Amino acid sequence: MAALVLDGKALAAEVRAGLRDEVDALAAAGARPGLAVVLVGQDPASQVYVRGKARACEEAGIAVFDHKLAKDTREDDLITLVRQLDDDPRVHGILVQLPLPAHLRADRVIAAISPAKDVDAFHPETTGRLFAGTPTFVPCTPAGCMRLLALSGVSLPGARAVVVGRSNIVGKPMAQLLLAAHATVTVCHSQTRELAAEVARADVLVAALGRPEAIRGAWIKEGAVVIDVGINRVEGTKKLVGDVEYAPAAERARAITPVPGGVGPMTIAMLLVNTVQAARQSAR
Ligand code: GUN
Repeated sequence: MAALVLDGKALAAEVRAGLRDEVDALAAAGARPGLAVVLVGQDPASQVYVRGKARACEEAGIAVFDHKLAKDTREDDLITLVRQLDDDPRVHGILVQLPLPAHLRADRVIAAISPAKDVDAFHPETTGRLFAGTPTFVPCTPAGCMRLLALSGVSLPGARAVVVGRSNIVGKPMAQLLLAAHATVTVCHSQTRELAAEVARADVLVAALGRPEAIRGAWIKEGAVVIDVGINRVEGTKKLVGDVEYAPAAERARAITPVPGGVGPMTIAMLLVNTVQAARQSAR
C-alpha cells in the first residue's frame, strides 16, 4: 500500500495560522513578538534559510530585526551585538545562523544569548533542561519532526526509534524527545556497524546524517514511519533529495516525509512557535 505522505508544508501553514490570534493579542498589548536574525558571512544556503525564516515571521506578524555581518567580523563584536539584542525589549528571540565562519566559536556566541531568548534552543542551559526532561525551548527541527510523527498517528511508547545522525542541532535532541515519548531509542552515526540492520529494525526512523539518499529504500521495515531531515542538492541541478532513497522507501513505509515539503517548513514554523512563546513569557 502506498505510504501516507506527511505534508509538512500544509502542517506548517496550519501551525502558523494558529499563531495569528496570539501574535495579534500580544501586539495589541504593546508586545509584538520580535525575532533578531544574525547572519555572518554569505554562505548561500544560510542566506536562503535566513530569508525563509524572516519572511515567515513577517507573514505571521512577528517583527524581524535583521543583522547581516561581514565574514571577517570579530568574535567580540559579534558577542557585543548579541548582548545588545539581549538587552533590547523589542527582541524576544535571538537566532544566530549556523554554521559560523571558522574563526568564530559558536559555543561562545550562543552562550551570550540569555536562555529566555534562546528560541533556537542551542544554549547549554536549554539543552540541559531538555535532557533533564524539563524543557523550556525545544530545538526547531526535532520539534517539527515530533509534530510530523503525531500527524502520522504512530504510537511512540515502546516503539523502536532509530535516529541516524548525532548532531547537537538534530540527532541528539531528537533522541531525547523520542526517549521522553517512551520510545526505545538507538542513535546511529558514521561509526555505526551494520547501519542497514539497525535501520531495518526501526518502527520510526529519523534520518539526519546529511548524505544524499544514504539510507536505501530496501532497508526500511514494512510499515515504518520515516522522517527525512536531509536537504541535499543534486550536483549541477536545482533538484533536492533527502537522506533517504524516497521512492523505494515509500513503497515499504506506512508514512514518510517528502523532500522538499516535509521537515523543512516545520523547522521554520517551530521557530515562530518558540518566538511567540518567548514573547508570551516576557509579557507576563
Ligand atoms: N543551521 C542549520 N540549522 C539551523 C537552525 O535551526 N538554526 C540556526 N541558527 N542555524 C542553523
